[in-house]
Amino acid sequence: MRHVKIAGTGSYVPEHIVTNDDLAGFLDTSDEWIASRTGIRERRISTGENTSDLAAAAAQRALEDAGVKAEELDLILCATISPDCFMPSVACMVQERIGASKAAAFDLVAACSGLVYGMATAAAFIESGMYRTILVIGAETLSKTVDWTDRATCVLFGDGAGAVVLTPSERRTGILASYLVSDGGKQDYLTLPALPLNNSFMVKKDEHQPEQSSILSMKGQDVFKFAVRSVVDQTKTLLTKAALTEEDIRYVVLHQANSRIIEQSAKSSGISQEKFFLNLDRYGNTSAASIGIALDELSRKGMLSDGDKLLLIGFGGGMTSGGILLEWSR
Ligand code: ACO
Repeated sequence: MRHVKIAGTGSYVPEHIVTNDDLAGFLDTSDEWIASRTGIRERRISTGENTSDLAAAAAQRALEDAGVKAEELDLILCATISPDCFMPSVACMVQERIGASKAAAFDLVAACSGLVYGMATAAAFIESGMYRTILVIGAETLSKTVDWTDRATCVLFGDGAGAVVLTPSERRTGILASYLVSDGGKQDYLTLPALPLNNSFMVKKDEHQPEQSSILSMKGQDVFKFAVRSVVDQTKTLLTKAALTEEDIRYVVLHQANSRIIEQSAKSSGISQEKFFLNLDRYGNTSAASIGIALDELSRKGMLSDGDKLLLIGFGGGMTSGGILLEWSR
């Protein structure tokens, strides 16, 4: 079987910074409440760029980092729950923007596990021999999906994009194990409705039925428990699959949802908390983008060396969870 490695990473966030104090200017909240409950101090919010703009910018940086030309790409996968439109896909918009004329392109929905689901899907294409060079992007403008009068949700999220270029590896490095899990039975933990059913043939509408709106809602405490359980299960499964132990892991890159989820996950998984990378204080929760942004930051700051083992773990709406155990090699 072929091995698959990350050949390059890239990320992009909008310039506009919104601090907790900025939010306290129009919501009944405070920096103290938000920072102590979530670890978030500020987030980037788009003042005009849509998801495809962020995705294309992150993609361009990942290609430059990998030394790969856009025309060499066989496939573009974009994980998002906040696309510009249902059709065309963000992946097709990026394809046109960066000039990846030979690539197939499609979007993938796995919420905050999206980048990991995308990487595992891309790896399977490469391992099978169907494609060689794949761009995987996680990109979101969640700012357009939240109710900016609801202090319980809008303070949590930010906009951004992260991307990786995956290619075959000559050595037995790169993706050592992956594990994807879904539980539709918990679908009401996190929801973001699309268009309501509406046509001339519908049976009589219930006049009291509320209009569906495209606003994100969340059962915070249920999500918290699901997230911690997922991290523990993912860690155990991935280490077993790769025949490694907790001590072998250099960094754990979790979906950046909440610092308390990360603290509890460290305690429950038996991995030292210093190994858990954290940048949610500056970006908030960027859903499918968060792991890509974190990975790009680790790489560009020179914090990764060949041979380092990383656990990438996402958890999110669906419910979904996805993990990858990676040996860094460039
Ligand atoms: N500022 C001030 N007060 C607030 C705020 C706010 N921003 N948000 C909620 N409150 C108030 C509530 O109104 C409530 O007040 P009340 O007791 O007078 O009714 C009180 O704080 C407690 O509200 P809860 O919703 O019960 O707050 P909780 O302690 O559960 O903390 C949080 C909320 C931080 C979201 C928590 O549930 C959590 O950590 N959840 C994990 C899930 C998560 O992080 N989700 C992110 C997105 S999902 C994902 O990425 C997979």
